[in-house]
Amino acid sequence: MPQSPIRKLVPYAEDAKKRGVSVYHLNIGQPDIKTPKIALDAVKNNNLEIVAYSRSEGSEEYRTKIAKYYSKNNIRVTTNEIIVTTGGSEALLFTFGSIMDAGDEVIIPEPFYANYNGFSVASGVNVVPVISKIDDNFALPPIEEFEKLISSKTKAILICNPGNPTGYLYSKEEIKKLANIVKKHNLFLIADEVYREFTYDGEKHHSVMEVGGLEDYAIMIDSVSKRYSMCGARIGCIVSRNKEVIQTALKFAQARLSPPTYAQIASEAALETPQSYFDDVINEYVERRNTLIKELQQIEGVKVATPKGAFYCIVELPVKNADDFAQWLLEEFNLNGETIMVAPAAGFYSTKGLGENQVRIAYVLKKEDLIASVKILKEALIQYNA
Ligand SMILES: Cc1ncc(COP(=O)(O)O)c(C=O)c1O
Repeated sequence: MPQSPIRKLVPYAEDAKKRGVSVYHLNIGQPDIKTPKIALDAVKNNNLEIVAYSRSEGSEEYRTKIAKYYSKNNIRVTTNEIIVTTGGSEALLFTFGSIMDAGDEVIIPEPFYANYNGFSVASGVNVVPVISKIDDNFALPPIEEFEKLISSKTKAILICNPGNPTGYLYSKEEIKKLANIVKKHNLFLIADEVYREFTYDGEKHHSVMEVGGLEDYAIMIDSVSKRYSMCGARIGCIVSRNKEVIQTALKFAQARLSPPTYAQIASEAALETPQSYFDDVINEYVERRNTLIKELQQIEGVKVATPKGAFYCIVELPVKNADDFAQWLLEEFNLNGETIMVAPAAGFYSTKGLGENQVRIAYVLKKEDLIASVKILKEALIQYNA
């Protein structure tokens, strides 16, 4: 199993903290946004006498409400087309297990969410990367590039929309192109849409579940982790109109018995969160993004693609080995008792040698902290390269 590039430097950060250095965590997508009160209250105020297992596919009430929530977002699915999982992570793992055998291949535009590598290894599946480039703002690579990679072992194309780690938001045309290619080659199109709400500059999110004719091919991965800042609840879901996929995923769900009961109560209540919560959160992220990008662009030798969604960006640094630099930041550097933790980007690629001079930054901290972090980065680069 590959190590998580997001978490692998944690021991160095812990050591830095023990030495009295404070660390700005730009490495992990743990938002500092408050969880909606309505979700917390639902757990505090409920009168469960037994914390029982729920149904393996998740409680009927919760799935019915999720279906209603999707219909407001232009996605018409029924309760039975949803399986509640322990986070989007388990949804991905069940999906891989349900549609692929050991030795099969999944094509993924890279850089991609690093744990796709882990889920693939766990499922015996091989990732076949199609490269997207920082100079193109990480847009969908030409469709011919996908076609070149399709073999008899290819079972699926997986996209993350909006993207982690790139912040890229796919256009309607790009989703249509992908839809055509999966239909032509009889593949699944898995769309990880856990950041659906987080789109900026008036851009709209286009789900694979909105595309007509994709009923048998589309599988959507979702999660409450980021939407409601409920990462620790561990609730996500698989959504598909393909009955065989759902029936197979259900067997995986039965093997692990049930998703967490209290967390389903919180997630069900969270569905009542008012739009004003999201409006405020989006405004906050736009400000953070704008601040971060503006500050980064002022450092010589730094390149950054402007994200249109999610809350991450890939940053190219004037260093040879961002892994070494990220560790050095924690082990040897501080600016007035403070340093930063970033995620080296090589772990977000599966092509060896790519991303070695890049890091991923999550803009999940307040504006002032982001400004302080970039100041630290700027000074660190001067000292590291001296
Ligand atoms: C793109 C993407 N997919 C899935 C997940 C899994 O999230 P969770 O298991 O918390 O729902 C994450 C978490 O950061 C993510 O960034």
